[in-house]
Order: sequence, then C-alpha cells, then structure tokens
Amino acid sequence: MNDKLTRRNFIGRAAAGSVALGWLGGHRATRAFAAEAAKPALLGGTPVHAGGWAKWPQWREAWEPELLKVWRSGHWFRGSDVHVAEFERGYAQLLGAKRCLATASGTTALIVSLHVMDVDAGDEVIVSPYTFSASYNAILSHKTLPVFADTDPATLTMDPESIESRITERTRAIMPVHIFGMPCDMDPIIAIARKHKLAVVEDACQAWLAEYKGRKCGTLGDLGCFSFQESKHLPSGEGGAITSMSEELIDKCDSFHNCGRACGTFKGNGCFTRGSNFRMTQAQAVLLSQQFDKLVKETEIRRANADYLSANLRQIQGITPMRLPENSRAVWHLYAMGYDAARFNGLSREKFSQAVSAEGVPCGGVYHEQYFDGMLDEAIASRGFKRLWSAERLKAYRDSFQELKGNKQVCETTVAITQNMLLADRKAMDDITEAIRKVQAHSAALAKT
Ligand SMILES: Cc1ncc(COP(=O)(O)O)c(C=O)c1O
Repeated sequence: MNDKLTRRNFIGRAAAGSVALGWLGGHRATRAFAAEAAKPALLGGTPVHAGGWAKWPQWREAWEPELLKVWRSGHWFRGSDVHVAEFERGYAQLLGAKRCLATASGTTALIVSLHVMDVDAGDEVIVSPYTFSASYNAILSHKTLPVFADTDPATLTMDPESIESRITERTRAIMPVHIFGMPCDMDPIIAIARKHKLAVVEDACQAWLAEYKGRKCGTLGDLGCFSFQESKHLPSGEGGAITSMSEELIDKCDSFHNCGRACGTFKGNGCFTRGSNFRMTQAQAVLLSQQFDKLVKETEIRRANADYLSANLRQIQGITPMRLPENSRAVWHLYAMGYDAARFNGLSREKFSQAVSAEGVPCGGVYHEQYFDGMLDEAIASRGFKRLWSAERLKAYRDSFQELKGNKQVCETTVAITQNMLLADRKAMDDITEAIRKVQAHSAALAKT
C-alpha cells in the first residue's frame, strides 16, 4: 500500500476490491488485496494475526488420576511396575515396529543405538549436518567422527548422492535425520548402506508417525530413535525411544540402557556387559501412553493445514515449500520454506522474519552452519581424537565442511514456523499467507529500515 493512504481510504479500497475480486477468488483474493494495502506492523500498522497461537506443551486434567496413582504407589523406577513396558508395546504398535525400548531421552536413544550397531572409538558415521546438535553429540560421545553428507535444499534432508564419496574404511553407519518430521529419501540411503555393509540408525527425534512409502519413520533402518522432550509432539519433559523390526537389536539396546544386564535373546557373558543407565521412569511412560490418541489426531490436523498452507505459499514468488519423497507424509515439527530475498527487493531473511513475526506470525531461521561453531574443533583437538586419527585426516575432515554447499544454502535461506501454529484453524492459516504477502508487498520499504 501507498504508506500515505489513510486507514479509511484503505478500508474503502479494500471493500471495493472485495466486490471486484469476489467472483475471481472470493475470500482468498480479498485477503491478498488487503495484504498489499495494509501498512506492515513493523512500520506501525496493525498485525494480520491477533490472538496468538496454541501454547505447548498442553495439559489435560483427564491424565491426572493415572499419574497420581503412579506417584502414590512409590513404584517409580522402570523395574518396579509395568507402565514403561506398556508404553513400549503401545508405541511399537502405533509405528508398526516389532519392538520398542523406552529411554531417558532422544540423545541417549542415539547413543545406545550407535553402540549396539558396533560403532566404536575411531569409527566414522555419516550424518546430516542440518539437525539439532544432539545428532552430532551422540556420535562424538563414542569418540567417533560425524562426517557430514550434504543437505538437499529442496528437502532439507540428507542428499543421498553426497553419501558415497564420504565413505572411508572407517565408516560404520549412516545416520539420516528426518528433520522437522520430513522423511529422508530412505531407499537410496539403505541401498548404499547395504552395498557398503553399513548400519542405518534413523534420527527420528522429530518424526513421530512420519511415513515413507507406507512405512513409519523409525522402522526403516536398523534402529530408529525418538525424542519426547517437552517441545515435541509427544512430550514428557524428557524421554526417548528406540524402535526396530529386530527383536535381537532391541534386546541388545535394552541391555546397554540398563547397566549391561542380560536381556531376552541377549545373554551377554552371563554377567554384566558394558552398559549405562538410560532408563525411562514410570510416570513419564504413563504421561506418554495417555497422549497417543492426541498425537494421532493432531498429526492429521497439522498435515491438513500444512498441505493447505503449501498450496497457498506456492503462489508467492520467492517462497518455496519443501518437497517430500514420493508417497511420503511429513508430521511438521516445524513447517519450513525456502526464502529468496531477490523476490523481496533484497529484504534480508532476518528482516523478513522480523516483519512477518510483527504481523503476529512468529517465524525465523532454524539451524546455522554449526560445524563452524567450535564444537567439532574442540573434539578434534582433544587428546582422544588426536590419538585415534592422523593429523592429515583431521585436517581434511575440518576442511571438508567448506564443501557443504547445499547445507550452507539451506542454513541461509530457510524460514520456519513451529508445529503448534499448525493446530490452528483455516483462518489462521490464511493469516500466515497474508502476513507473508503483506511483507512482500512492502518489502522495498522494509528493506530500507
Ligand atoms: C533431530 C534431533 N535429534 C536428537 C535430539 C535429541 O533429543 P533429546 O533432546 O530428547 O535428547 C533432538 C531433540 O531436540 C532432535 O531434534
């Protein structure tokens, strides 16, 4: 809108426009017109979206009696009651997995899984760089090198074509990350793993119920890992799980997460084997089991809203919704889009995010090029890593971060909104599109501020 236009003039124009555009596209077209006319909230105008968004996590009074029973029983730890085992059966069923093991967190699920897949000190694991730092840290905790495949900017997940050139004689496993609940393209990843005899540990910590070609994430590789931390779609404060189609692997995970005790088919050496304590508590399990129905219903709401949003956002030049592998369904822990500043008069991504957030639609970039932050420098400068790799290998490893061109692009151009926003109604989804249209219409003025 011409910033000099008064609010009354604008209402008059918007009303006339709505009559003229009504037969063209009805409500949506009217809103597009309004977006162009109204002054951006960042420049003192009225925000598009009022009333905020659903808070997260959510509590239900109906969950209280079962939780109180656990607290009053005094049977709190895994070994003293059946709730954790019940949760495991329920979660395995929900995913169509043969077995599930509950853990203390997503990070510990990853640590256990890597150990069970025989990842050992001095080995290398190929992982997606576009992820929460816990994916890197789980690998580092085994004194193992996280070697980064590149990210496909169209999907935000591991580009299968970038994997093979990174395999060395020390590579043991591939760890694809279904980031934001979007499934990785698992067929080529699994084919490469089979060819080179590598394990596949899925980081499905953001992908509860996500589907790839009719099967749930977490059941596609050897082991799949989930997080139930507070921000997650199935939250219990902290918590995690490992799922698998293999009884034997889950028995080994069970043993390692329970101080190395023998478990099921895994007898160990008849006494304690190596292990740690990564157990879930009874109360966490009860809280999680009671949220299964909620998770299923909300997943469908998020999906329907994300599809609707993608169809609308695709109409905006400079905004690109993410592509999913064929016959796959995401669960949208975050809803991400590619942002092209050139189509917004050079408005930086940061300024764009600020302006859209000011419209009542909080958004922003997510992960940056974390491998330059020092975490990996600290690891490879440590005594242990220096003992395990030659100086040449560590230098080449550090230099290889510069080759992650796809990931660099993704880190610089992705903008996302959070999952709770996808639980709102259709009018709120229209507000998201309108806020972006409005910012685009005023991007030249915003770029100058
Ligand atoms: C992709 C990914 N991997 C691993 C983790 C670690 O899970 P937790 O926080 O439960 O340890 C998270 C948690 O945010 C995650 O998002």
